[in-house]
Amino acid sequence: MFPTPNLDHITSNDYENVYEPAEDTFLFLDALEKDIEFLKNNINPCICLEIGSGTGCVSTFLGQLLGNGTTLLLCTDINPYATAITVKTAIHNSIHLDAITTNLTSGLLPRLYHNVDILCFNPPYVVTSSEDVNSTNLIERAWAGGIDGREVIDKMLPLVNDLLSSNGVFYLLVISDNKPDEICDRMWNDYKFQSKILASRLAGREKQLILKFWRNQS
Ligand SMILES: C[S@@+](CC[C@H](N)C(=O)[O-])C[C@H]1O[C@@H](n2cnc3c(N)ncnc32)[C@H](O)[C@@H]1O
Repeated sequence: MFPTPNLDHITSNDYENVYEPAEDTFLFLDALEKDIEFLKNNINPCICLEIGSGTGCVSTFLGQLLGNGTTLLLCTDINPYATAITVKTAIHNSIHLDAITTNLTSGLLPRLYHNVDILCFNPPYVVTSSEDVNSTNLIERAWAGGIDGREVIDKMLPLVNDLLSSNGVFYLLVISDNKPDEICDRMWNDYKFQSKILASRLAGREKQLILKFWRNQS
C-alpha cells in the first residue's frame, strides 16, 4: 500500500475553509492506486488535471504514484483557500503541481483541448437545494450538489469530451443518489465514452463509487 500524503501542515483552522479529506477522498486514492499499473503502462500521462482539489491530497498522491516528476499536474478549485493549501500539500510532499482558482476549468480551454491524460473530480455530490450550490460559504460549496447532487457534476460532464486526450481517462466520484447509471448512459449517448465502476464503498448509509470513463476506441 502506498502511504497517504502527509497533511501535517494543515491546521484545524484551515479546515474551516477547506474540505477535510474524508472517506470519499480515501476511496479516490484507493482507486488511483488500483489503476496505477494501467496508467503507467497504457497511458504514460503527460498532463493530469484535478478539478476541485481541496487540500490537494488526491493530486499529490497521484504525483507520488506516477513517481516520474515529468508529468504536469494541474489542479483547479473555486475556493482560493483550497488552491493555496493544494500547493502547500504538494511542496510538503516533494511534489510539483500548479493550482488555479477558477470555476471548473474556466480559462484552461482551449489550451488543454484533447490534452488531458488523467482527469479527476471528487465533486460536491450531496443532495441539497439548488440555492446551496451557489452558497457564499465555501465549505458548503465543497459538498452541496443541488438536485440529485448532480448540478455541479452535470455542468462538468460536457467538458470531459473537450479535455481528454485520445487515450485519456476520467475518474469521477459519485454516490448512488447521483444516479450513476444515468451518468454513464449520458456519457455513452452524447460522447461515446465507455465506463465502469472501478471502486465502491459504503460510508455510513452512503454508497460511494469511483466511475472510470474512456473513449470508445472501436
Ligand atoms: C468533495 S470536495 C473534494 C476535495 C478533494 N478533492 C478531496 O477529495 O478531498 C469538492 C471540492 O470541489 C470544489 N468545487 C466545488 N465547486 C467547484 C467548481 N465549480 N469549480 C471548481 N471547484 C469546485 C470545492 O471547493 C471542494 O474543494
